[in-house]
Amino acid sequence: MREITTDVQSVFSSIANNYDQLNTILSLNIDKLWRKKAVKLCNIKENDKVLDLCCGTGKMIELECKAVGENTPVIGLDFNREMINVGNKKLNKSLDKYKYDLIQGDAMELPFEDNTFHSITIAFGLRNIPDKRKAISEMYRVLKPGGKAVCLELSKPEIPILRNIYNLYFNFVLPVIGYLGTQDKAAYYYLRDSVNGFMTKRQLRREFKNIGFENSGFKSLTCGVASLHFGTKPL
Ligand SMILES: C[S@@+](CC[C@H](N)C(=O)[O-])C[C@H]1O[C@@H](n2cnc3c(N)ncnc32)[C@H](O)[C@@H]1O
Repeated sequence: MREITTDVQSVFSSIANNYDQLNTILSLNIDKLWRKKAVKLCNIKENDKVLDLCCGTGKMIELECKAVGENTPVIGLDFNREMINVGNKKLNKSLDKYKYDLIQGDAMELPFEDNTFHSITIAFGLRNIPDKRKAISEMYRVLKPGGKAVCLELSKPEIPILRNIYNLYFNFVLPVIGYLGTQDKAAYYYLRDSVNGFMTKRQLRREFKNIGFENSGFKSLTCGVASLHFGTKPL
């Protein structure tokens, strides 16, 4: 794996055990609704092959397994062993009737053949990947023609007053809550910086389009605090 990913690895290793609780607190539990919308947008059918990139502790996998049904495994991929371990422990209890497989790998070099999946999701992951174009191209490569990619990501509200409140929360409140929860200051400063440095919704839509996705676009969620980006691989 590339050198630049080492810091991201250590950030997620340090928060793996508290990730789910902090995620719920910091997003005021709205992430649950955003994730449901992301999965709905995929139009998953029974027995579809579904991949969740940067799956972390498997929050998307829980929803996707229910959409796919009990016979077909949903695949999760993440490069951090600790996040996967926490995920496996949790899913073992919550998904006892369903099949899933969490594998360790880099989203920039997917270990799958071309045209494998009907749907691919990536939730709060793309922001962390150094070469975003490579990761989106890999999603495109392993999607079947007609398959859909959906990316759920944090974004910034466009209305100025909301943007100011958001900046205040993100730059000052969130790192403090994050620190109190994990005792790891670096992790939540990293979260702030990764959001501040991420491309805009329009830039990301252009990236999807340039790589070859059809019908690419985005939907703003909760006043633009998060966004769903999507695109279909042409038939
Ligand atoms: C903010 S968490 C999101 C986890 C999960 N998708 C969710 O919605 O809760 C980001 C995840 O991306 C993973 N990640 C970051 N860079 C990656 C890469 N290059 N390849 C695979 N996983 C990566 C991290 O290990 C971490 O688990």
